[in-house]
Amino acid sequence: MRSPPRTRKKVFVTTRLPEEALNLLKSKFEVEVWPEETPPPKSLLIEKVKEIDGLCCLLTDKIDKEVIEAAGENLKVISQVAVGYDNIDVEAATRKGIYVTNTPGVLTDTTADFAFALLMATARRIPEADRYVRGGKWKIPWGLMMFLGQDVWGKTIGIIGLGRIGSAVARRAKGMNMRVLYYDIRRNEKLEREIGAEYVDLETLLRESDFVTIHVPLLPSTYHLINEERLRLMKPNAVLINTSRGPVVDEKALYKALKEGWIWAAGLDVWTEEPTDPKNPLLKLDNVVATPHIASASIETRTKMALLAVENIIAALEGRVPPNLVNKEVLEKRGG
Ligand code: GLV
Repeated sequence: MRSPPRTRKKVFVTTRLPEEALNLLKSKFEVEVWPEETPPPKSLLIEKVKEIDGLCCLLTDKIDKEVIEAAGENLKVISQVAVGYDNIDVEAATRKGIYVTNTPGVLTDTTADFAFALLMATARRIPEADRYVRGGKWKIPWGLMMFLGQDVWGKTIGIIGLGRIGSAVARRAKGMNMRVLYYDIRRNEKLEREIGAEYVDLETLLRESDFVTIHVPLLPSTYHLINEERLRLMKPNAVLINTSRGPVVDEKALYKALKEGWIWAAGLDVWTEEPTDPKNPLLKLDNVVATPHIASASIETRTKMALLAVENIIAALEGRVPPNLVNKEVLEKRGG
């Protein structure tokens, strides 16, 4: 018996979405949402992609070659609800003529706010002080030498990766009267003029910065960009902040650097493995401030991200080029 013709296009969503975004998606397509908090297993993704037109996914879903090659003819779009998309084999998607989309722009300021909050919290030891108060350790009313941190105002910040988020961090740093150094594969002369940011090589940035904050995507060229050799270049009072992707930093080398005092502290929102093992030695160190990959997690921003991901799907499935297309080369493949 022949199966009946499909009436509505199908979309599989690997996570619960804010209601507004989900309702919009449901108004157009048949939508199935993975109900668990943990990501769907790969075997399920492989089954799903055979029959769907659109996939809405998170950075915790590994959309690799195997998943993409299992996709049926109908799959037109893989819409990631994040700006980073290192979990997706974009080349494999391009070969199959599938759009890959992301959610840039809407999370820039929220992520920059968080990077700066993490920088301040690490410099001024706020989580450690919070643990101290709650742990009943606060015995003397005020101590001249208690919880001494690092000043932020007027110090030097080194921004690795001056894209959207890095630039937003630079503007915040300017507001804190900081000297702003940056390293990127591209110069940003506009921002240099606007806030006096100085373009330097990575070595100079590491040697001269009191705060080093990372805003690069994870690529083969950025894997372990911050390794032992580079950590050794940093100042003993330096604070390292990572809100990009965990594997950009060699965690083992970072542990050594923090333990042996080559650098002063680190604020980490991203980890080599996520969730990181509670036994990760970095978590034993008081000079590490740890958060669970939440830099873009504000109510407003997560809603905007979901809506943008849904808009990307709608455009793709209604025959338009999605607004946040990652693999522009796919247009040639699709003859568009
Ligand atoms: C979060 O890490 C993102 O890439 O949006």
